[in-house]
Amino acid sequence: MSITIKTPDEIEKMRVAGRLAAEVLDYIAPFVKPGVTTGELDQLCHEYMVNVQQTIPAPLNYAPPGYPPYPKSICTSINHQVCHGVPGPKALKKGDIVNLDITVIKDGYHGDTSRMFIVGDGSILARRLCQVTLECLWLGISVVKPGARLGDIGQIIQKHAEDSGFSVVREFCGHGIGLKFHEEPQVLHYGKAGTGPELLPGMTFTIEPMINAGKAAISELPDGWTIVTKDRSLSAQWEHTILITPTGFEVLTVSPDCPPPPALVAPLLS
Ligand code: MF3
Ligand code: CO
Ligand code: CO
Repeated sequence: MSITIKTPDEIEKMRVAGRLAAEVLDYIAPFVKPGVTTGELDQLCHEYMVNVQQTIPAPLNYAPPGYPPYPKSICTSINHQVCHGVPGPKALKKGDIVNLDITVIKDGYHGDTSRMFIVGDGSILARRLCQVTLECLWLGISVVKPGARLGDIGQIIQKHAEDSGFSVVREFCGHGIGLKFHEEPQVLHYGKAGTGPELLPGMTFTIEPMINAGKAAISELPDGWTIVTKDRSLSAQWEHTILITPTGFEVLTVSPDCPPPPALVAPLLS
């Protein structure tokens, strides 16, 4: 297998799927309040996807080799949970940070995006971690253009995370996306500029850095899915699905309330 190049017709379907995934986050944002459980957020998103959008929640029953079928329709990762947090009866409380990760399938194509939400005010550390991680995502996006290499993305993300005193999770990465949820290539969030596959117009992949306030090491909970930081430090993640265009990039997971590029990165975007 190799990296697929999407046709114009496929790209249009990826645009639709990407927008729909982002719109689920717009829809659920007002419900992310103290007292709501992650199970309730999952159920609301599930009903919105299935009944309003007529999309398929890609996580539900997703079972890559070595994993039990994922039991819910979205991922909800709170505080020291890095990714793939499974929704349940746990209520959010003031000061929590939570990542909501949405993947929808429309017309066979996947759109995959996640955002951080701060419940109440959040500590200075929590706010800074969420902001630096958003900057990492957009710094990665900023170097995407034909002729660039995947390592360029990893290097710029790793540098900003580590210069900020944080660490990059190594075990999970961005990924090609299209007819399949996870396709080639693997998009590492660390590495060396000038290395790795060359980016070509028509490729679609996600960038989804997971950044820890403490050490990079992770462990898996007995549910077989939830990933946490080994040192129980806070972790944040943001994700977009990106298209490589002839001149640069297009963010496919856009919606009216999608946060704009952060001020640090905006001047770098052409
Ligand atoms: N949405 C995640 C990603 O960004 C994958 C979640 S797999 C699941 O790649 F089964 F946990 F939903
Ligand atoms: Co993804
Ligand atoms: Co995702």
